Amino acid sequence: MLIKTDVLIIGSGAAGLTAALELADKFNVLIISKETLVDSSTWYAQGGIAAVLAKEDTTESHIKDTLIAGDGLCDEKAVRFCIENGKSAIDWLINSGVTFTKNDTTNDFHLTQEGGHSHRRIIHAADATGKEVSDSLATKVLKNKKIRILENHLAVDLIIGEKKCRGAYVFDKKKEEVLSISAGATVLATGGASKVYLYTSNPDGASGDGIALAWRAGCKLSNMEFNQFHPTCLYHPDAKSFLISEALRGEGAKLKNYKGNQFMEAYDSRKELAPRDVVSRSIDAEMKKTGNDNVFLDISHKDSEEIKQAFPTILKKCLEFGFDITKDPIPVVPAAHYTCGGVKTDLNGQTNLKNLYAIGETSCTGLHGANRMASNSLLECIVFAKSSAKSIKLNFDSEIIDLPIWDNSKVIRAGENIVIAHNWDATRRLMWDYVGVVRSNNRLEMAKEKIKLIFEEVENFYKNYEITSDFIELRNLVLVARIIIESAIRRKESRGLHYTIDYPELNEKAMPSNFSKDSTGF
Ligand code: FAD
Ligand code: SIN
Repeated sequence: MLIKTDVLIIGSGAAGLTAALELADKFNVLIISKETLVDSSTWYAQGGIAAVLAKEDTTESHIKDTLIAGDGLCDEKAVRFCIENGKSAIDWLINSGVTFTKNDTTNDFHLTQEGGHSHRRIIHAADATGKEVSDSLATKVLKNKKIRILENHLAVDLIIGEKKCRGAYVFDKKKEEVLSISAGATVLATGGASKVYLYTSNPDGASGDGIALAWRAGCKLSNMEFNQFHPTCLYHPDAKSFLISEALRGEGAKLKNYKGNQFMEAYDSRKELAPRDVVSRSIDAEMKKTGNDNVFLDISHKDSEEIKQAFPTILKKCLEFGFDITKDPIPVVPAAHYTCGGVKTDLNGQTNLKNLYAIGETSCTGLHGANRMASNSLLECIVFAKSSAKSIKLNFDSEIIDLPIWDNSKVIRAGENIVIAHNWDATRRLMWDYVGVVRSNNRLEMAKEKIKLIFEEVENFYKNYEITSDFIELRNLVLVARIIIESAIRRKESRGLHYTIDYPELNEKAMPSNFSKDSTGF
């Protein structure tokens, strides 16, 4: 089946929903989302959104903090652009119905602090900011007659014609058939790839689909070796992917080892509020030193009523696992959290392929450099979704053509799913064990050999069998894992989130890694 639309948006997190709302005054917009409209990393965001809102804060200070966290690799133009547009992005969210937490006494917005920020500048909705943003924007989208939504539809590949992006092949999960969607502009808003690691704070959908689609279409990717590990995810065998927000550390929570001793000062003078790469590596080192599987985050010295008011979601979740955070230290470990690299774009989210845009975590705008500072991500989603919408309006290509129909004639239905299930687990464990917080030449070379075999098996399967949604995600996950390994091998230094024992020093000149499939052969 062929569907035609002015603009196709793939993904319905903060980036995709914002772009849709900004485009719908002029175009017919089609959003496809592989699960429901609100199934996204956005929905799970806790801490908040960074912006210069306090009187004593300045744009220059937010820019400086971001550049420091990015460890020499931020694109200063992108940093400035994003931060200068921060306040208007927050105003836009408020006008779109998002309710942020206020101070009880002054009625101003309550601002928290997180690692790397030299001021309180995180606006939030208690400890469930993403839910508030996601639900509010989704409500607005659902009311807009110019926006059509296809939930449970998964983009398989982009369709290219005459060196332009013409739309995408999209798998309808319920009917198990592939549609061709033709569009004047296509926007990748598919989120990150942290599911490539065994332990992650991200929901299941974070399989790097947009990054893989763009790669196969010949787009340039940047900085894929910089995978952010959040220092504090709940450590419990049944607690799948639950994050303990950095805002706890902003409000005074301390990291402790099994003996109950604080240890951050031994690693960094900024202690608990050092940037994430530093805190995660410190925890990793402390766990290796003590031989324990986790450390603890303790906020129990603070007033229990304040804790209950500020962190209701975390309090409730931890109670389900038997920890009362007003009294007990919380067992935590680092887990994969954010993909700093992605599809390389300009300030309008434009990729190097005409009519293809990438926004949000899928993109690499240059804002984060070698390490994203906490709460800059949702800000980037809103700011760049808005600028990409503006650019689409200015440069719209109204030639929306008939597209080829998906050819299923040379494949058969797979009799069993073992190749898929096994390779999902094998890839995620391989990445955790060999390409984690601390890397080495030896481990990366072993990972390169192992992922090549998995990649070949998966591509072979793709040529012979009908696709399923699990398989589409696996194919993307394995490709992205291979790209991360290749990027990590190419970086012969330690910078930001990429730390290797073989090159512990910084190179004098900071160079982003930019490459596409032309230079790798896969
Ligand atoms: P997402 O919100 O991940 O949305 C991606 C969308 O694309 C989803 O709708 C998904 O279903 C869809 N999709 C993916 N692949 C396909 C496909 N092939 N076909 C169709 N649809 C597809 N950042 C902050 O700034 N502040 C925070 O407090 C914060 N807290 C966080 C807490 C947690 C637990 C997590 C996981 C992340 C947090 N982050 C935070 C990071 C931030 O939430 C994400 O970077 C951001 O929400 C990404 O938004 P996005 O719109 O780019 O993608
Ligand atoms: C958190 O609440 O700790 C997550 C913030 C972020 O990832 O930006």
